[in-house]
Amino acid sequence: MKKKIVVSGMRATGPIHLGNYFGAVKNWVDLQEHYDGYFFVADWHALTTDYGDPSAIARNSLEVVADCIAAGLDPERSVIFLQSLVPAHAELHLLFSMFTPLGWLERVPTYKEQIRQIENKDLATYGFLGYPVLQAADILIYRGDMVPVGEDQASHLELSRELARRFNGYYGDTLPEPQALFTPAAKVPGLDGRKMSKSYGNTINIADGPDEIRRKCMSMFTDPARVRRDDPGHPETCNLFQLHRLVSPPDVRERVARECRLAQIGCVEDKKLIADLLIAFLEPMRRRREELMRDPRGLLELLQRGSKRAAVRAEETLGSVRAAMSLDYERLFAERTE
Ligand code: TRP
Repeated sequence: MKKKIVVSGMRATGPIHLGNYFGAVKNWVDLQEHYDGYFFVADWHALTTDYGDPSAIARNSLEVVADCIAAGLDPERSVIFLQSLVPAHAELHLLFSMFTPLGWLERVPTYKEQIRQIENKDLATYGFLGYPVLQAADILIYRGDMVPVGEDQASHLELSRELARRFNGYYGDTLPEPQALFTPAAKVPGLDGRKMSKSYGNTINIADGPDEIRRKCMSMFTDPARVRRDDPGHPETCNLFQLHRLVSPPDVRERVARECRLAQIGCVEDKKLIADLLIAFLEPMRRRREELMRDPRGLLELLQRGSKRAAVRAEETLGSVRAAMSLDYERLFAERTE
């Protein structure tokens, strides 16, 4: 039986952190087992916000790939590639843009939210409004069955499905509607308790070494209701304990929860403990990514090979799309000679 196809991308905004890992990459790694994976670095999507200074995007793209491979993505099993090396995404995006109603894009919640939140960049651009159209092209160009993403991408996925339907409605059945495969909300809090995010500067990265991890863990916010060492703590509302849920063996986690509630373990002690656990968890990945980053040319070649494989399937789709939209000019003559 043919395996189903999963497609997912990661914006090239910098080295990946625990939030990216638990929210996306770990899922991709697990899916490789049963699906044909198309996983890519979305460098054009990074450009929708960083167009004013795109100088870091190429380097970030390589960092993202190194992190993903270090985390277990396997370039033999999955197609790992760079969005901008598969120009078919751009052509499909252009064709989609012809029939995408503006209202659909203006209503996307992430759009409204980012326009409001990001103040230092002018996001009132054509490209930024079209972000989800490009994402739809990324997915539909591979006729993807499943798209593993976090809940925050739900509206983008819905738009991809609506664009597939609209395309099929105008031009005939060509593009299957992809299903969202939402990552079981692995909420990863950042050092300050807000969602872990590069833009908040509260991340722990795969690239962080032991000293860095210790320093960051010591600065973590813990249970705000536990003011003194002998106050009982509340693991269920403590950031730090969320990390135990992700990386600690069950017996350690249960002991910490119990001792915290009884004020037997203090926050400082617990920070040291979580630092050690995180170091043990991340160290093999960090070493592997460091090794990969020593040969950036090799990483680029890996992406070039992956992009060639991706382009084969993308061109197939584009062929049907052009034909459906009456853009296959050869056909004009083929019909006449029949
Ligand atoms: N918008 C996605 C994010 O920010 C990244 C992305 C771009 C993507 N293209 C995609 C995800 C296609 C899934 C499929 O996380």
